Amino acid sequence: MSVPDIALETGVTIPQVGYGVFQIPPEQTQESVERALEAGYRHIDTAAGYGNEAGVGAAIRVSGLPREEVFVTTKLRNGDQGARTARQAFENSRELLGLDVVDLYLIHWPRPSRGQYVETWQVFEQLHAEGSIRAIGVSNFLPDHLAHLMEHAEVTPAVNQIEVHPSFAQPGTQQATREHGIVVEAYAPLGQAQDLAHAAVRSAAKAHGVSPAQVVLRWHLQQGTIVIPKSVTPERIRSNIDLFGFELSEPQMDAISSLDSDQRMFPDPQNADFD
Ligand SMILES: NC(=O)c1ccc[n+]([C@@H]2O[C@H](COP(=O)([O-])OP(=O)(O)OC[C@H]3O[C@@H](n4cnc5c(N)ncnc54)[C@H](OP(=O)(O)O)[C@@H]3O)[C@@H](O)[C@H]2O)c1
Repeated sequence: MSVPDIALETGVTIPQVGYGVFQIPPEQTQESVERALEAGYRHIDTAAGYGNEAGVGAAIRVSGLPREEVFVTTKLRNGDQGARTARQAFENSRELLGLDVVDLYLIHWPRPSRGQYVETWQVFEQLHAEGSIRAIGVSNFLPDHLAHLMEHAEVTPAVNQIEVHPSFAQPGTQQATREHGIVVEAYAPLGQAQDLAHAAVRSAAKAHGVSPAQVVLRWHLQQGTIVIPKSVTPERIRSNIDLFGFELSEPQMDAISSLDSDQRMFPDPQNADFD
């Protein structure tokens, strides 16, 4: 399995396909992540808010893989934003993961109503300079949030992890992200499986002898996007990373892109105000 790497900053690359663990119960996480590592994933995406960082760390240790071969992302919970709280929150995540260094740390949501993402970013920059985090980034940032952050940032975010799937492609946010030199990372890349039933997806799947999920993931990859599909089903875990034996044609890419109906599944980041 040869998953391409995407360059984030000097000396830091991220595998373009990762394994997401949102909504995997803590007691199932170690086993699921072990399965993903066996299937060839070398990039795991968790968050403090998922409550399962300890299971991710345990699976990596049990796998026996050299630490530098597995790329680990976690995220700062909204309620921990702020100059006085972000560092301690990072230390808690680092301890639960059982890692000395986190590969990528993200501000989970901008939560603009609190006005704290710039001071939070400054804590991220310090942790990055100290070597505790290899790359720092953001998630759910809309163009205005990126523009405001960039006015104050010394380090450009490595990625913006946003909701992207065929029925919600966010072309404007993707473009603004790329214009700042930030890599787009698609969360809910399958639209939580709701984007798999479209005729354009199913007919491409039939044409290539692959699953609808493989078609949708391939659609992302051919646009240079990082994907982090989640599954607890062994066969899906395996097939969701088996994406390199076929290529979608331009008409197939266009047909899937035309499914965009601008309907979010997740909260609007401008108003998402939970802890
Ligand atoms: N930054 C953020 O705010 C944010 C928000 C949401 C998600 N994320 C990240 O993105 C990751 C992925 O997003 P997500 O979990 O919401 O959605 P997703 O990956 O788009 O979809 C997951 C759903 O699709 C099903 N599925 C997976 N592979 C399939 C296949 N081959 N065929 C049919 N169904 C399949 C899974 O079922 P089974 O598990 O039952 O197989 C699960 O119900 C998360 O785990 C998390 O790491 C980040």
